[in-house]
Amino acid sequence: MSSVQTTKQFSEKYKLGSPFDLDNDIAYHAWLENKMDDYPQAIEDIVVEVSDTKKLSIAEFKVIRDLVKKTNMAIYAGNTGSDPDKAIPVSLANQFGLSLPDDNMGADDGITALRVAGDEWRGEYIPYTNRSIHWHTDGYYNTAEHQIQSLLLHCVTPAASGGENALLDPEIIYIRLRQENPDYIRALMEPDVMMIPANINKEGEMIRPDRYGPVFSMLPDGNLHMRYTARTRSIEWKQDPLVLAAVALLHDYLHTDSPYIYRGTLQPGQGLISNNVLHDRSGFEDDDEHKRLLYRLRYYQRVAQA
Ligand SMILES: [Fe+2]
Repeated sequence: MSSVQTTKQFSEKYKLGSPFDLDNDIAYHAWLENKMDDYPQAIEDIVVEVSDTKKLSIAEFKVIRDLVKKTNMAIYAGNTGSDPDKAIPVSLANQFGLSLPDDNMGADDGITALRVAGDEWRGEYIPYTNRSIHWHTDGYYNTAEHQIQSLLLHCVTPAASGGENALLDPEIIYIRLRQENPDYIRALMEPDVMMIPANINKEGEMIRPDRYGPVFSMLPDGNLHMRYTARTRSIEWKQDPLVLAAVALLHDYLHTDSPYIYRGTLQPGQGLISNNVLHDRSGFEDDDEHKRLLYRLRYYQRVAQA
């Protein structure tokens, strides 16, 4: 009898641990059951209409918070239309505890205006062109200390055509890989699994040195973090059979018609709030009246769950 109680106490203790700890199957399966229960399977299911983006009602806040808890993302649909006021996405972010923006090269006060740019250095980077962008998480080339935990995209103006995003919760791909072979996860957690070669500009100056890092890592709070890019140039994968098999499976999953891959084009006043989910962007065309403008905000914190 006492040994049964001991086993139960043991189980309870491990349920409290991180589900992303490969040595903790109890926590993983408890979490998995809850995770997949009623998981949204259409982009419409993660859209939340809000009446004032700058000041959500308690009910609106809770719906967005709970969606982010479930799928690591939500889409708010405000009625600010093409109002270019940067305070709209900033105040939305602040309501979810996001206050430490990433200071990247193109950011002005932590906000990056994604539009087709004419100036020279921006034109060298795909986000500032109308070209498609392969699957990735933001900031995969950042140092371990500056990992992007959350990503917001706010639409001021969509393109005349195209500019659709695909979105996928990194925990879904984690589940798929762990289900196939837990050693895939182990391999992708190695700190030297992906290497992003140095960024050197035309003048030969080094903007960023070679960066090594894992795909999956466990944050101090037990949450999962993912770094990934589907690019085949400007990335070197560790030449290990397990790594290559895991990356191939990951790549293949991103090209399936999984119901967990959401696809949609943000409309004026709409935005994505996410824990840096996997995403891509289709190519687009602007015309005189429709020049695509999205604000991008990246933070070193996750979306608050309180
Ligand atoms: Fe991105």
